[in-house]
Amino acid sequence: MSVSRRDVVKAGGALFLGMLGAGSVAKPNTLLGASEAQQGPGLDLPWPYKKLNPEAAAETGYYGYYAGACCFGAFEGIISELRKEVGHPYTMIPTAMMVYGEGGVAGVGTLCGALNGAAAAIFLVTGGMDKKMREPAFAITKELYTWYEQEALPDYKPKAPRFEIARSVSRSTLCHASVSRWCKVSKFKSFSNQRSERCAWLTASVAKHTVELLNSYAQGTFKPVHALSADVQSCRQCHDQGGALENTRGTMDCGGCHFTPRTKHPKI
Ligand code: HEC
Ligand code: HEC
Repeated sequence: MSVSRRDVVKAGGALFLGMLGAGSVAKPNTLLGASEAQQGPGLDLPWPYKKLNPEAAAETGYYGYYAGACCFGAFEGIISELRKEVGHPYTMIPTAMMVYGEGGVAGVGTLCGALNGAAAAIFLVTGGMDKKMREPAFAITKELYTWYEQEALPDYKPKAPRFEIARSVSRSTLCHASVSRWCKVSKFKSFSNQRSERCAWLTASVAKHTVELLNSYAQGTFKPVHALSADVQSCRQCHDQGGALENTRGTMDCGGCHFTPRTKHPKI
């Protein structure tokens, strides 16, 4: 889809009105031209969801990994099922855009691409601009991320695997740590074919589990089951929102990076 000059002018106008205080907060639809958007794919979130087959998403995720890597694979695994079950507007998404997330975004090793793609899909079908509407999407995403940190993965074996793959616990949502912890357990190198296969299984595992979470949310039975570790909870009491120091934010496993604090630490 290309953005026409008219849309750009409109978007500028919306921003201008926004600055004058003439409109309420600019919504994405306003920026993109609301009237056309309504006849088009429907840009308001969440998009319609139907119960999906987790194994089908996993298999597509596995092959998607080899086509466009982890972020694309996880996203495509989920969206391809929605294209089948719901059709429009899912037929309008250029899922290839998700290739950007490969190897923790362009190979940088930050957020695991499978988790990145999955979070985008979760937000698309459960989220929205409104603060209240972000809550379910964020709750599902956090559950998925904590599951990823704590479970021995990959836990989905594709129907036609290239190799047998060992499981490992990443203790981190980062591509970098996740890959290195697996290398330590499996003794394979980070640029081996086995490591690629591991990430393909992992992509499949993430796509599958995301669909399971989304199905349970759609049925009204979603409940987070992976609590933050006792350590993380205690660290956050002092260092996160409302704590005595309040000098960080996040729910990642602190001990994954701060092995031993440099300074003498207050007793809890
Ligand atoms: C009871 C409150 C409290 C708890 C719980 C706590 N901290 Fe701290 N933390 C502090 C204080 C106070 C300092 C500042 C110490 C200083 O600068 O002398 C600090 C400093 C730090 C620092 C910077 C200095 C250093 O030692 O490296 C890191 C990193 C840190 N904490 C991580 C953690 C982690 C990880 C946990 C959980 C395992 C944790 N903290 C739990 C109070 C706490
Ligand atoms: C992915 C790795 C990673 C994770 C996970 C992580 N941190 Fe950090 N943290 C860092 C890095 C890197 C710095 C910057 C360190 C520096 O500048 O010395 C930092 C800095 C800090 C500091 C300030 C350190 C200082 O010198 O004053 C605190 C406090 C801290 N982290 C607490 C936490 C807590 C609490 C958690 C868990 C909720 C956590 N971190 C999770 C990597 C991490």
